[in-house]
Amino acid sequence: MSAFTQWFNERAPGLGVAYKKHMTEYYAPKNFNFMYYFGSLALLVLVNQIVTGIFLTMFYNPSAAGAFDSVQYIMRDVQWGWLVRYMHETGASMFFIVIYLHMFRGLMYGSYKRPRELVWLLGMFIFLALMAEAFMGYVLPWGNMSFWGAKVIITLFSAIPWIGETLVHWIMGTLSVPGDPTLNRFFALHVVALPLVLLLLVVLHLGALHEVGSNNPDGVEIKKHKGPDGHPLDGIPFHPYYTLKDLVGVGVFLIICAIVIFFAPTVGGFFLEPDNLLKANPLVTPATIKPVWYFSPFYAILRAIPDKGMGVLALLLSIASLFLVPWLDRGKVKSIRYRGTSYKVAITIFAIAFVLLGTIGADVMPTWLGYLYGNNAEAIVSSNLMIARILTIVYFAFFIFLWVYTFFGLEKTRPVPERVTTHA
Ligand code: HEM
Repeated sequence: MSAFTQWFNERAPGLGVAYKKHMTEYYAPKNFNFMYYFGSLALLVLVNQIVTGIFLTMFYNPSAAGAFDSVQYIMRDVQWGWLVRYMHETGASMFFIVIYLHMFRGLMYGSYKRPRELVWLLGMFIFLALMAEAFMGYVLPWGNMSFWGAKVIITLFSAIPWIGETLVHWIMGTLSVPGDPTLNRFFALHVVALPLVLLLLVVLHLGALHEVGSNNPDGVEIKKHKGPDGHPLDGIPFHPYYTLKDLVGVGVFLIICAIVIFFAPTVGGFFLEPDNLLKANPLVTPATIKPVWYFSPFYAILRAIPDKGMGVLALLLSIASLFLVPWLDRGKVKSIRYRGTSYKVAITIFAIAFVLLGTIGADVMPTWLGYLYGNNAEAIVSSNLMIARILTIVYFAFFIFLWVYTFFGLEKTRPVPERVTTHA
């Protein structure tokens, strides 16, 4: 032990113990693959959002009169302001890319199954908090899409019986359209409250994971086979093995982020929408009000149903279904590698449906349909709606299928190996 470590440990022994428990003596399965990079990348993006956010807050002005101009000031006059803002804005989209892949990994390898239900649930609460955080952050620049997006999303609460209208006014802080009170509270929540909630949830998420240990692409519990030293035979210490491996992922990820930030920060209007380059104007509604791409699959589900109340219910159900996955899936086998063919087909169709719903929510599908129908606007609108409804049914069908297929024992699985497999 170096003199410094000894000095430190004598004064804060708990920290040394925690470091050992979660790093050098946390045994992770040795067969982690590409899909296991996204947890550490999510942590990296969280840190990036907090650090760049702190610098943006130094120059941002949270008032309806000054917000938009202060963002322009950051972009044009503040030294390196453009870089910090693009890092934050690209970071938001990258966060969702990473999180969607992280969640999909969970579905692929059954990481939500016993004994990791709590890890999944805490993850889902993180997902909710992240959506709230991103929505409120999007309102802050007070561009025209910020304004109208806030109006549309807050108004959704009016679908709640009896208290709906009152709730809308309470959230908005104004009577008709969003204004200073809305912006101020969103600023407080985005900058202080939700980051704290996110950090707390991430600590609990990792704490819960380290209690039960990580799953892996084979879905084998490595704690079942321990060596004479008490460590899992198929496990390796997280540090230095996975810290180093994750660094490779970080390198590649940062290169991709740098390409976006320096060469295509708006990503063709997907990461930063054109309507948000215009100042908020209560008198001019954007041609189509649509959320940023990462909300678009859920937005498409909301819009697929004409009745507002039912649409909001479908939206809530679409997220609630994800919460319920650990209890819907009654199958014995965790990993997709050893599950039945029908499950493999179902999860593939589910993933495709989710992406296609995204193209509808982001208003890309009508452009594609335009190639089919030319200028026939009516045909484009009705086909778009029809496809949205079919995909919404496919989305929910996956969860129903998962329960029926596993509850009634219809799944024909392959034998799961006793020990993890590695492919050289
Ligand atoms: C800020 C957001 C998040 C961060 C920083 C984060 C971080 C992590 C990390 C570092 C791990 C361990 C490494 C790995 O397995 O990749 C992990 C595992 C896990 N996470 Fe997350 N996570 C986040 C959000 C989520 C969400 C939204 C879900 C799903 C609802 C989720 C579900 C899981 C599950 C099930 C595991 C265990 C995976 C396994 O052992 O196979 N996480 N998370």
